Amino acid sequence: LWTPANIVDDAIARVKKQVGDDQVLLGLSGGVDSSVVAALLHRAIGDQLTCVFVDNGLLRKNEGDQVMDMFAKNMGVKVIRSDSEELFLSRLKGVEDPEQKRKIIGNTFIEVFDEEAAKLSNVKWLAQGTIYPDVIESAAAKTGKAHVIKSHHNVGGLPDDMALELVEPLRELFKDEVRAIGLELGLPHEMVFRHPFPGPGLGVRILGEVKKEYANILREADAIFIEELRNFGWYDKTSQAFAVFVPVKSVGVVGDGRRYAWVIAIRAVETVDFMTARWAHLPYELLEKVSSRIINEIEDVSRVTYDISSKPPATIEWE
Ligand code: XMP
Repeated sequence: LWTPANIVDDAIARVKKQVGDDQVLLGLSGGVDSSVVAALLHRAIGDQLTCVFVDNGLLRKNEGDQVMDMFAKNMGVKVIRSDSEELFLSRLKGVEDPEQKRKIIGNTFIEVFDEEAAKLSNVKWLAQGTIYPDVIESAAAKTGKAHVIKSHHNVGGLPDDMALELVEPLRELFKDEVRAIGLELGLPHEMVFRHPFPGPGLGVRILGEVKKEYANILREADAIFIEELRNFGWYDKTSQAFAVFVPVKSVGVVGDGRRYAWVIAIRAVETVDFMTARWAHLPYELLEKVSSRIINEIEDVSRVTYDISSKPPATIEWE
């Protein structure tokens, strides 16, 4: 009988056999798959695991600290955090095209990851959170943009004699199994049932040019939305939910004053496969609360809109 506990025991035994006494490197994003791999490998091989977490400045509010708290502080996992906000933002300066932004963010990620990896000696293995649907997708030779980061298997900056072999302990598992073993390994429910977050992060949720000022506003708005979504019991009923920074100014009135400030769009969808999606029919009370909190708590926002576009024809992300 396959239970989460069995799957964990089996995976641990296999990893131990595969890597022996070698050092293993893992790119930790804070998403479900890489987090479960981190927890699993830590249980299996302890200090032989080193994680690299790249903070690109396009993460959600407190996300970097949360990842460090959970893995480094609470679990004792070796995590190297690379604070690379300035580098990413400087590369993105003046760039408006969504695909161009994706390319820049992806390439910069690889560059930073490689640099951190090259500082480590004796690493033989690169661990990845590849799950079974990813395997099928690559086999079908589909170059889905959702897997740009994951598909960069080759860690180019490492010296040739350090070419890394892959450890992919989730390769045969479906998402629900990955979640089950995440819980089995003691990861919190909130982490295991997190909505997906795209590799380019807020970079594709700030329309057009990415600026630090915009990212800060968006982080606040997004945090308010997600907090209220949880408060109203809707987080687990939606597949993905987030705020989008719309670089358009709109007039508002606050007290006796006129406010000419930015627009925030709210998006929440229900979907099974992310190929098609329906906009979530959130309760008006929830939308009202989110809207009034965002406008009242964030000075630089004067208007909140709710996105009622389904996919197709609209995509889930705005870019
Ligand atoms: P779209 O916007 O294409 O999104 O309907 C479908 C799913 O893919 C995610 N997404 C991405 N994930 N890199 C990623 O890792 C990307 O460039 C990217 N673009 C979209 C999106 O968040 C949704 O879950």
